[in-house]
Amino acid sequence: MNKPDIPPHYFIQRKAKKLIKEGRDIILLSVGDPDINTDKRIIDAMYKAALDGHTHYGNIRGIPELRESIADTLNNELNISITSENIILLPGSKTSIFLLTTALLNKDSKIIVMTPTWGVYLYLLDRFHYKYKKLKLKFENNWRPSQEDIEFLKKEDFDSIIIINPSNPTGKVLPKEDIEAVTDIAREKDAYIFADEIYYNLIYDDKPFYSFLNTGYEKAVGIYSFSKAYAMTGFRIGWIVANQEIINQLSKVMTLLFTNVPDFIQYAALKALSLKDIVEKNREIFKNRTRMMESGLMQLGFKFHRVEGAFYIFIKTPENYRDSFQFANDLLDKAGVAVAPGTAFGDYPNYFRVVTSVSEDKIDRAINRISSYLNK
Ligand SMILES: Cc1ncc(COP(=O)(O)O)c(C=O)c1O
Repeated sequence: MNKPDIPPHYFIQRKAKKLIKEGRDIILLSVGDPDINTDKRIIDAMYKAALDGHTHYGNIRGIPELRESIADTLNNELNISITSENIILLPGSKTSIFLLTTALLNKDSKIIVMTPTWGVYLYLLDRFHYKYKKLKLKFENNWRPSQEDIEFLKKEDFDSIIIINPSNPTGKVLPKEDIEAVTDIAREKDAYIFADEIYYNLIYDDKPFYSFLNTGYEKAVGIYSFSKAYAMTGFRIGWIVANQEIINQLSKVMTLLFTNVPDFIQYAALKALSLKDIVEKNREIFKNRTRMMESGLMQLGFKFHRVEGAFYIFIKTPENYRDSFQFANDLLDKAGVAVAPGTAFGDYPNYFRVVTSVSEDKIDRAINRISSYLNK
């Protein structure tokens, strides 16, 4: 099938929503929006802030209290030492790569994207005519860079590398040695590392996390979000951590585009950070859901690596399907289950991704539907 000009998983999601409107019962496993309501205390804080008059233009980088609270949280959780001056709030972490490329690179800059990656980043680079190459990780190497990949990076001339860790779509958490190997090469080339670590607080079974910020490399940039761990996707609030010079450059672009994340949303985020129980609770929910989906898929004979963090599983398509877009489309039409084709994440036509943040009932029904579809 022809590839749509929007990320293929958005195409499937849109088609699924259209079918739902027409009355079809569709289970959406295509976009990572948790099936959990935002905690009422967060919504109350937002409402109160708005009533208190925080409804005006605000500080470009974000309210100082929130930046301080983020700095404390990250210093504590990642064992780093940043200040509020190293932080800028964004209207969702989705805007990060656009802001970073606009602020720090130009159209001749050479970018490497480690894939599989979140497809939006690839489509964004295409759309704005950036030059990039993909560093294609493999299932066989457990979604880690191989020696060959490291050699490729060493030979490449690049100004920036984009990495998602923990990974959407594979659920892989890269070990410290991989983070250090990539950072050493970036340092040698004086290249930026744009490290999307938005799932750092959704890692399971006490697997250790080593942030690119732990390397101390001055051109390592960390990207974070309130969306997933706090179940706040609709609030559109994320942030970047970087050295002060980079934050200054980002502020200049922010001021031209968004001005600031609405202050009342930032007060909601400040409240979220103060509620230490939320992330732990949500992590447990996502872990149980992920394990449930894994065991259902395993029983159906699907091949994938066990998820270490985030809430996605990147799965090999059944043998008779070479085109994952076709598979996703058929699964939607014939089984009423929406999944994301592997081509949404790079050159992976033999894979598809399911989201595991949906309710247990939906997981159960989705597995049953996929099972009957495959047995037909
Ligand atoms: C890896 C990754 N980065 C960024 C985002 C964007 O999140 P948000 O803009 O809601 O912060 C997503 C959303 O799915 C994601 O998976």
